[in-house]
Amino acid sequence: MAKYFIQGGNRLAGDLSIHGAKNSVLPILAASLLCKESIIHNCPSLSDVRAACNILGYLGCEAHQEGDTVVIRSESLSCCDIPDDLMREMRSSVVFLGAIISKCGKAKVSLPGGCELGPRPIDMHLSSLEKLGVHISEDHGYLDCWVPEELRGAVISLPFPSVGATENIMLAAVMAHGDTIIHNPAREPEIEDLASFLNSAGGKIYFMENGSISITGVGELHSTEFSLIPDRIAAATYLCCSAITGGEILLRDVVPAHLTAVFPVLEEMGCTIRSDNDTIYLRAPGELRPVKMVRTMPYPGFPTDAQAPIMALSCIANGTSVFVENIFESRYKQSAELARMGARIKVEGRVAVVEGVRKLYGASMVCTDLRGGAALCCAALAADGVSEITKISHIQRGYQDFDKNLVRMGAIIEKRDVEA
Ligand code: EPZ
Repeated sequence: MAKYFIQGGNRLAGDLSIHGAKNSVLPILAASLLCKESIIHNCPSLSDVRAACNILGYLGCEAHQEGDTVVIRSESLSCCDIPDDLMREMRSSVVFLGAIISKCGKAKVSLPGGCELGPRPIDMHLSSLEKLGVHISEDHGYLDCWVPEELRGAVISLPFPSVGATENIMLAAVMAHGDTIIHNPAREPEIEDLASFLNSAGGKIYFMENGSISITGVGELHSTEFSLIPDRIAAATYLCCSAITGGEILLRDVVPAHLTAVFPVLEEMGCTIRSDNDTIYLRAPGELRPVKMVRTMPYPGFPTDAQAPIMALSCIANGTSVFVENIFESRYKQSAELARMGARIKVEGRVAVVEGVRKLYGASMVCTDLRGGAALCCAALAADGVSEITKISHIQRGYQDFDKNLVRMGAIIEKRDVEA
């Protein structure tokens, strides 16, 4: 088990290239089951990516990462079930369900457990797959899925634009017989990236004027080579890490358009932001202002994954900020840890009220989840004294070289491996 020791107080300044998107590569790794060979570039080195490659290996595929390229060959696929331990290694492994069914006509996976963000139900995934012709039975914590006849296109209206459910529908419908329309789909950039990947392999997925997604089933998908979009949440996190120290940062290899809901929040807090086609520059004010209200929403609204890092920033703003978390039931777990540093946060259900304080103090804290853990590090960068942060494996799921990148910009961070 590893820990971070962060000495706060240094101003962070520098430039940083942003790695490929975790939430894009995971569904695309599942999609690679449907192609003979997939060469995926700009792939981040993350524990979640390794977990997904372990699942592909268990299914009988060849999957290996060299630098930021991962190559998957799926011809040797030999099984269509994912055991409990592998399903639990990565919360989003449910996205393999649609791909395995598409490939094998059946699948057996253990029910994904809840996670730190709440129960994480998959009712929309399952009801959508049933509309496409999948029979599903739950038995002793396992989902047994089979297609008695054939996967066939359907019109599916999602009650909520679920990212994972949209991805599972795309993966099950891309080679189904007939056409599928998804009304009220998720529209995150990672959904477009998955569609681009599938279309690069011969899929026929289109984004309609009215926001729905149209999928024309094709007979097969061929091999493909693809490069992932950059990670917009990692970008937002590093912007916050620099801003909280009164610093300045230039992010390279990003898509500014993916952060249009985050920029106004940082500007309201007093940051100056400039961007061109693949860079974002931020300069922080001497003193951060509060943010009146941050409401997390489905894309293109404010991303729930950026809520915790912005909350960290608001802890030292010169006033009161309000957050409303509309996507997940329980996504304020970082607030109790931030309070150990002297942050003043009141949580009531989906609302969190942060009363900014002049100074945070180094404390020992435990990462509660991926983005909450990054938020603790962000706050520690501005704290007076040293913070000790444990369970940083959460952070390593979604941020490549997190501590190294921050040290390069002037942070004082030591990573120590300690006995479990
Ligand atoms: C994806 O999770 C992301 N993960 C999450 O990022 C992200 O926060 C989330 O989308 C929202 O943008 C990956 O892409 C791997 P949802 P997902 O289905 O697909 C409820 C991170 O930090 N729901 O859009 O699980 C669900 O409980 C992670 O990188 C149902 O009720 O998100 C949640 O409250 C965290 N029934 C809400 O919808 C369902 O069948 C949004 O979930 C499906 C979802």
